[in-house]
Amino acid sequence: MLRVTSFVHQFIKNTFTQSSTLLDLTLGNGNDALFCLQRGHRVIGLDIQTLAIERSEAKCHNYPKHVFHQIDHALLDTVIHEPLDGVLMNNGYLPNGDEHITTSLASSLAALDKSIVLMRPLAYLIVTLYRKQTGGFHEAEGIESYLRQNKKLRFDQSYTYTNDDFAPLVLIFQKVDESS
Ligand SMILES: C[S@@+](CC[C@H](N)C(=O)[O-])C[C@H]1O[C@@H](n2cnc3c(N)ncnc32)[C@H](O)[C@@H]1O
Repeated sequence: MLRVTSFVHQFIKNTFTQSSTLLDLTLGNGNDALFCLQRGHRVIGLDIQTLAIERSEAKCHNYPKHVFHQIDHALLDTVIHEPLDGVLMNNGYLPNGDEHITTSLASSLAALDKSIVLMRPLAYLIVTLYRKQTGGFHEAEGIESYLRQNKKLRFDQSYTYTNDDFAPLVLIFQKVDESS
């Protein structure tokens, strides 16, 4: 059984190059950001909580190719203006933090909508959803339906390790190249 985080890391390892710029919409404890930085990617990271930014900075300070902003990801267009090769979203609450501060469907959809505008053609969007957490199932359904209906995206693959409807779920989409 492969954990969803390991699946995502394997996908990142097999997909992006040293010159890739990745946006992490939910920095949390900085584990995904660190993994990307260790592979030579540039990482722009966002989180709404001071604690998450502090933990991520502490973890990633040896890797200069990062910039972290404490901001609601729904407002990402106020700080990010560059093309992206990949976007990560790992929803839910900060592990070992306040479980009441969690992602919401409305801000997640706003963040995804704005991220898709910045994604280069053929860039990847990798979303990890924790359906067992409070509100998680509703959020996952809303996000999956939004992504599957988005004409700018092509479904690439999904991953979960059991048939349980509430198990963590990874969804991967690729941005369509409208010029071809
Ligand atoms: C499950 S954690 C992310 C884990 C992270 N990817 C890691 O590698 O440690 C989810 C994070 O989303 C953040 N978050 C919740 N709502 C947010 C929002 N509207 N904008 C930005 N971050 C948000 C939480 O503060 C929390 O740190």
